[in-house]
Amino acid sequence: MDSFTGKLAVVTGGGSGMGRELVRQLAAQGCSVAACDINPDSVAVTAATAWAAAPPGVQVTSHVCDVSDEAQVLRFGDELLEQHASDHVDLVFSNAGVFGGASFVKDPRQEWERTFAINWWGVYFCARTFLPLLIASGDGVLVNTCSVAGFWATAGPGAPPITAYSTSEFAIKGFSEALVEDLRANAPQVRVVVVMPGLVSTDIGTNSRRALGLPEWEQLSDAELMEMIPDAGRAVLVATGLLADDFSADDLRRAIPRLKDAFQDKGFTAARAATIILDGVLSGAWRILVGDEAKMLDEQVRANPEAPFNYENYPEMYGPLIEQAQAKASGTPEP
Ligand SMILES: NC(=O)c1ccc[n+]([C@@H]2O[C@H](COP(=O)([O-])OP(=O)(O)OC[C@H]3O[C@@H](n4cnc5c(N)ncnc54)[C@H](O)[C@@H]3O)[C@@H](O)[C@H]2O)c1
Repeated sequence: MDSFTGKLAVVTGGGSGMGRELVRQLAAQGCSVAACDINPDSVAVTAATAWAAAPPGVQVTSHVCDVSDEAQVLRFGDELLEQHASDHVDLVFSNAGVFGGASFVKDPRQEWERTFAINWWGVYFCARTFLPLLIASGDGVLVNTCSVAGFWATAGPGAPPITAYSTSEFAIKGFSEALVEDLRANAPQVRVVVVMPGLVSTDIGTNSRRALGLPEWEQLSDAELMEMIPDAGRAVLVATGLLADDFSADDLRRAIPRLKDAFQDKGFTAARAATIILDGVLSGAWRILVGDEAKMLDEQVRANPEAPFNYENYPEMYGPLIEQAQAKASGTPEP
């Protein structure tokens, strides 16, 4: 596939972040898109704005679907074929995902299993539903979004554990790599791509809480709010002047909008990530690392698989990237 023009793509989790940017950029490049999300309003906005900016002949539709429910994924498939008057799809971006189920020990089992179900079963049900339609395209691409947490099961020293998230991401990576061989032998007209981003600035925190049925940030008690910020995160907030050394829960609540300005809007953007993903797909790559952090972690883990779990190696591994981020953030106005 050397162009997206005239193709039909499916994007899950199209209401926000990388999914929204994939929809926009695909449509701008002449690709029709069926985007789904668990959040009907956000995906409707994505589809309307992407369609309005797309060249003539492109159609962008929005669909409501919880990817962890196979019946809903099947219904989404039927709905999009009808609306796009097609008998196949050319590309599937299994992008929907949530961050949650941090601790296997402390966190509720329900949150752990819901996180795993959205991330892993979502990718699995989409592969089951859409593979026959990709085969029917004659030149199909299945793009599974994973994470660096799919090969590195920690967010570093001082950060909370990421057990459900990482377990689901390892499953996505393992499944995708196994499909490389399976498709080569049994469905050579389809190829699989696994995407592994490092940290990307999106609303995944807020969206995940909603998808997992957890209270919004504003509804958290002081203790719950303070517990959300790991020691390493506290040090960065203080070092960049966003909060004083002895900040309280109320200070943190008031600072949340400034944090968005300081980090999210200046970080590695979802638009940049989507461009890397789409360029990677056109290049024929089956393994796409998104951002310097992902490349660094991939190299470190491959070179010495035990080193990244040794806290002593952390400053050397992560130091240059943290310095870069702090330098960028220090350009922000004082609170
Ligand atoms: N943001 C990051 O730092 C990062 C890093 C590595 C990997 N990822 C992965 O990238 C993907 C996209 O993440 P993002 O950062 O753009 O997040 P995001 O929250 O901005 O977008 C994800 C979208 O998925 C939707 N969604 C959640 N549960 C769903 C469900 N059950 N069914 C359908 N839609 C659902 C959300 O409503 C949201 O619109 C995820 O799979 C995530 O795990 C993100």
